[in-house]
Amino acid sequence: MKGVILAGGLATRLRPLTQVTNKHLLPVFNKPMIFYPLEIMQRAGIKEVLLISSPDHSGDFANLLKSGEEFGLKIYYGVQQNAKGGIADGISYAREFAKNEKILVILGDNIFRTDLKSAIGKFEQKDKGAVIYGVRMPTHSQQYGVIEVDDNAVVLSIEEKPEHPKSDIVQTGIYLYDERVFDFIETLKPSARGELEVTDLNNIYLEEGSLQCELLDWWIDAGTSYDELLRANNMVAEKVKAGEL
Ligand code: DAU
Repeated sequence: MKGVILAGGLATRLRPLTQVTNKHLLPVFNKPMIFYPLEIMQRAGIKEVLLISSPDHSGDFANLLKSGEEFGLKIYYGVQQNAKGGIADGISYAREFAKNEKILVILGDNIFRTDLKSAIGKFEQKDKGAVIYGVRMPTHSQQYGVIEVDDNAVVLSIEEKPEHPKSDIVQTGIYLYDERVFDFIETLKPSARGELEVTDLNNIYLEEGSLQCELLDWWIDAGTSYDELLRANNMVAEKVKAGEL
């Protein structure tokens, strides 16, 4: 299993904070945002991570993280040519790196704590499929991908930023994919906002009947707004002081 972290995008919603830097380098309490997904990778037992960022700032990541030794990881760096190509476009840059292994993808602005090690162990045993992670969010779910599940936690639908969400479970930025993911991405067409959408990718697995959904207790997307960035700082500070992070 190889790790892929996406740290591209333009982060226009956080300007002027992101005028001259990449949002994943902004502080969240006592660390740059990008440290959190890297630590998750390390705890999940991943050894090699490809960090994909936008053309302007990839050198800044290398200056900060170097070879990855401090994290117990080997970090490789990739550049997504079109910084707004979409999450699935970003993942497509990992084809050579993955070398026919399954991948764990984490979006670089996601902060959470869960044991991915055992989930990865189970996923490694499977022939094919994908796993997505959801979290209950009673308000503002229309700003995210929304996952509808039945009483047995079987996924019924995933919709990207729906006007009328069918559930209060939002799709986080944590995904496990089998080796076919790169072929599936090649079949995607840009959405109305011009991106190759991760939701369209996950819907391919859903239609095939090989998509599984796990629920997290808590999760923050630190990069959506000033308010969420502030909430992330406060929540992380509390959790660090309580020894929970
Ligand atoms: O955070 C979870 C949400 O992420 C999901 O609920 C949605 O289904 C998914 O589409 C995505 O929502 P956004 O469209 O709001 O994602 P955003 O543009 O904020 O980008 C999320 C992360 O992915 C961020 O760390 C930057 C990175 N990214 C994004 C794009 C569009 C890239 O590396 N390359 C890209 O082209």
